Amino acid sequence: MSDSPSAVAGRPIPRPGVLDIEAYVPGKSSAPGAARVFKLSSNETPLGPSPRALAAYRSAADNLAAYPDGSSTVLRAAIGRVFGLDPARIVCGAGSDELLNLLAHAYVGPGDEGIFTEHGFAVYRIAILGCGGVPVVVPETNLTTDVDAILAAVTERTRIVFIANPNNPTGTYLPFEEIKRLAASLPPRVLLVLDAAYAEYVRRNDYAAGIELAGSSENVVMTRTFSKIHGLASLRIGWLYGPAHVAEALNRIRGPFNLSGPALAAGTASIEDLAFVEAAAAFNEEWRAWLTTEIEKLGLTVTPSAANFLLVHFPREEGRDARAADAFLMARGLILRRLESYNLPHCLRLSIGSEEANRAVVAALADFVGGARG
Ligand SMILES: Cc1ncc(COP(=O)(O)O)c(C=O)c1O
Repeated sequence: MSDSPSAVAGRPIPRPGVLDIEAYVPGKSSAPGAARVFKLSSNETPLGPSPRALAAYRSAADNLAAYPDGSSTVLRAAIGRVFGLDPARIVCGAGSDELLNLLAHAYVGPGDEGIFTEHGFAVYRIAILGCGGVPVVVPETNLTTDVDAILAAVTERTRIVFIANPNNPTGTYLPFEEIKRLAASLPPRVLLVLDAAYAEYVRRNDYAAGIELAGSSENVVMTRTFSKIHGLASLRIGWLYGPAHVAEALNRIRGPFNLSGPALAAGTASIEDLAFVEAAAAFNEEWRAWLTTEIEKLGLTVTPSAANFLLVHFPREEGRDARAADAFLMARGLILRRLESYNLPHCLRLSIGSEEANRAVVAALADFVGGARG
């Protein structure tokens, strides 16, 4: 008789690691009692999808009885055209979340280590634990990924390193020189995942999403999403570019029809609407700067952001802290993201919203800081 945990429990139990996972907590989406609600808690775009994506999505409704193209051929070809990439090295996923999980499942086994940074995106821990791996959390410097800290944490058991660039929830980014230094210093058996979910929003000369590196290295992949600037979060579309051998491995383990027909149609139309993406990036740049300035004028600190959200720091005194600010804003229908789970309990994350939402947030914060009640 085996005395495995399942036998002792007398019922099926998940394998080691699974029950150590704290299920992902999405940003809140309702503010009970508020007349008008602005959801600024999930880094969604206030601009919605491209009209071309919407039209393509609607026409796909005529064909719902048929399975979609399981290879995402047309979408991969469109992405390839827009970015100048070989479609054979692109893998599409049901959101980049699926791709991050597939990468862990393909490359991390029980006892293997996966590295991410202390305020890194929550899905990395879940992906590593989900395949029995050991999460290795490294410190950041000034809320920014620290290449030397990552390199110092590499051991014989390291299989994967996840970096969001820019990172969520801090909004900070690493210059391409630093990413290249990391890639050059990692052992070749370690897969470096550059999660560039917010790449389109970055307007810095020293930034690169990682296409060149993923194209020229055997151990670097870049992931992207349609959930942010493309405004298609609900359709769940992500893509990855990397070495052919990684694409081949993922194609063996992904679901055979992992993207729906409407998602493929909308994604293809959206990736080709370059003017829409450019306008959305310009909108974000303008309001990111405005919000940063206005919130700092109120005496609050804002971490400089390269993305479509801001990390706002609050004082630690009860009544003036992030928890109190969250309750105050919530009563006015302004939903921000609490960050206890990211070990940033004194901060709230604010997604850049519509002009109306942004102005409402600044007005509410002014009242909060000025001591107004409710
Ligand atoms: C850094 C980062 N990566 C990946 C994702 C997942 O995006 P999706 O699965 O919608 O593509 C998010 C979403 O918030 C994110 O912030």
